[in-house]
Amino acid sequence: MILVTGGAGFIGTNFILGWLARNDEPVINLDLVTYAGNPANLTPLGADPRYRFQRGDIADRELVSGLLRESTPDGDTVRAIVHFAAESHVDRSIHGPEAFVHTNVVGTFRLLDAARDYWSALSPARRERFRFLHVSTDEVYGSLADTDPPFRETDRYEPNSPYSASKAASDHLVRSYHHTYGLPVVTTNCSNNYGPYQFPEKLIPLCIHNALAGKPLPIYGDGRQIRDWLYVEDHCLAIERVLEAGREGETYNVGGWNEQANIDVVTTICAILDEERPRAGNARHADLITFVRDRPGHDRRYAIDAGRIERDLGWRPRETFATGIRKTIRWYLEHEAWVASVVSGAYREWIDRQYGAPGRT
Ligand code: NAD
Ligand code: DAU
Repeated sequence: MILVTGGAGFIGTNFILGWLARNDEPVINLDLVTYAGNPANLTPLGADPRYRFQRGDIADRELVSGLLRESTPDGDTVRAIVHFAAESHVDRSIHGPEAFVHTNVVGTFRLLDAARDYWSALSPARRERFRFLHVSTDEVYGSLADTDPPFRETDRYEPNSPYSASKAASDHLVRSYHHTYGLPVVTTNCSNNYGPYQFPEKLIPLCIHNALAGKPLPIYGDGRQIRDWLYVEDHCLAIERVLEAGREGETYNVGGWNEQANIDVVTTICAILDEERPRAGNARHADLITFVRDRPGHDRRYAIDAGRIERDLGWRPRETFATGIRKTIRWYLEHEAWVASVVSGAYREWIDRQYGAPGRT
């Protein structure tokens, strides 16, 4: 079986649902259930005996060691850790970096250390098979100028936000556990994901949510910052492929070959919503676009060269942005109850803090 961390979050949820649809191998999901975690995402699994949820902190060494010692009734033991758990939102890292250091750095360190103890005591055959798959981000490479080539795995790390610095630190710890102790690790550095179950603090679900409520669509600065967008299911398939065939100690960049300026992403969302859920009268969703104060230290451009994972492992994204964004919007239109349930009091506090309370200038 596999141990997934952070499986109640956006990508982890999609990963577990896809994994259990494609594989019979059981999953233990360890998740602290922060504001970003929602174990109810996995309710479609019902009482599936292949799925077990454990609430807890990856930094809780005893808890993690206990989970690693678990086995199924037919003697199956943990053969891989797929590590998603993190504080993931750049803006929150600017307001409160400490939680990012706790989970992304200290948490990853304790998880790695528990994994090392567990792995060292395995039989040679099980040691050989074990993998620690660390899910990381393209943001560790810093920001590109318009004419720079896309990020490659050999680029130097230049993280600019507390979030990306904490992810960079975790990547270095993972690397060091391979070089020093021989732990069989593999790291993926992926670009911006979008799709079902993404918390509406990130650009795409925030804009869909606000547009449906007739609220402003906040664009930071001039809106010309560029991101590479990948449909979440493609990211999950890349992770499965790396788990299956990735080379020990290797890192793989994962991306959609799909660079877009933020303003273009939001304009596309507005055009699709105009078709799928027209506003009253002649109003267009794009009329809601509002330019707001820029993110401090905002990285200008990310772009990914996903050539290594394609050449070595045969992975390429299946979805185009045109098909993926339409699917995503339809999912949000069909799951307004999900959005309503995650948009709690804590969410409203965050929105007031980040964008200003109603009536405040
Ligand atoms: P998310 O914020 O939606 O989910 C994170 C999950 O981790 C939540 O369920 C949360 O409860 C859990 N968690 C947080 N702290 C924890 C702790 N101390 N112990 C156990 N669980 C904890 O994040 P996401 O967007 O799904 O991202 C998942 C991973 O992928 C992260 O490591 C992130 O850095 C990476 N990543 C994300 C993107 C993206 O576009 N979202 C792109 C590249 C890489
Ligand atoms: O590149 C991978 C990273 O992508 C992941 O590692 C992070 O976990 C994930 O959150 C994401 O980071 P970004 O900062 O790029 O994502 P976000 O959705 O917050 O912002 C996307 C772009 O849109 C960015 O340039 C900032 C801008 N933006 C964002 C928000 C929330 C706005 O213009 N307005 C907004 O209200």
